[in-house]
Amino acid sequence: MELMFRALLFHLLLYCATQTSGVTIQTVPAVDSEGVIQTELEKTVSLVCQPDGGHEADEELQWLRNGFAVSLTEENKMGLSNNGATFTCRRRNNATATASVTLNVSYRPQLSGSEEVSVEEESMLVLWCDIWANPPVSSVSWSLNGSAVDLLAGGFSVTNDGFTSTISADRVEKSLHEGTYQCTAESPIYGSHSKKFIVTLTDKTLTIPLMPFIAGLVVVFFTVLLAVASRWNRIRK
Ligand SMILES: *[C@@H]1O[C@H](CO)[C@@H](O)[C@H](O)[C@H]1NC(C)=O
Ligand SMILES: *[C@@H]1O[C@H](CO)[C@@H](O)[C@H](O)[C@H]1NC(C)=O
Ligand SMILES: *[C@@H]1O[C@H](CO)[C@@H](O)[C@H](O)[C@H]1NC(C)=O
Repeated sequence: MELMFRALLFHLLLYCATQTSGVTIQTVPAVDSEGVIQTELEKTVSLVCQPDGGHEADEELQWLRNGFAVSLTEENKMGLSNNGATFTCRRRNNATATASVTLNVSYRPQLSGSEEVSVEEESMLVLWCDIWANPPVSSVSWSLNGSAVDLLAGGFSVTNDGFTSTISADRVEKSLHEGTYQCTAESPIYGSHSKKFIVTLTDKTLTIPLMPFIAGLVVVFFTVLLAVASRWNRIRK
């Protein structure tokens, strides 16, 4: 029985095996000394589960992913959620005959291109970069117009929770906050990756107090509706 993956679009293929007793998983690429398959995005991984010797012809084998049965439709699409997953092959009716391997998919931070962002003056600016990668990035930096963002001058704050790096400023001003921002993540094995944000500030629009205005309209509408309804009732009588 075989599990095959192409990382990102993991394709899962199944071949049924016939005999039993213990089971062995053969993998391409081979597992390391810890039982882990090291691979990368876009590479194909195949897992073949074979019974060791044995008899009992139509014995079924079963694949589990993190302890849950994998439904072996011909083409199972699985994403990066398989990263770190442990695949176990076992005999369907003998839980003691098992073998397991773990997948470790390496991938670069998914940062590229540029995005246009427009913010109204005096409102809040928030930009974020997805920095999730395997191995984790070693550092993230933000620049504005090509030089490191001056956190103090612009009243910026930067946070990083390991998945996302966020830069924000509470009240933006054209002279301090407009320009081209860039986040750059350094990966220990994939080098640096970055994404740009072209931020333009728009003039502050006059804010009419909208809620009281809408509330007023609603009152007028229902008053008219009631008037019409009561007149209608009188006409019908
Ligand atoms: C289940 O598998 C184990 C390990 O291969 C084997 O020792 C045992 O005899 C099997 N049990 C049955 C009921 O087939
Ligand atoms: C998984 O791969 C990453 C990146 O190549 C490596 O740093 C990490 O040690 C590996 N983890 C295991 C458990 O093999
Ligand atoms: C960044 O460069 C743009 C275009 O040259 C300029 O309009 C803007 O004021 C600069 N931003 C800052 C914060 O210096």
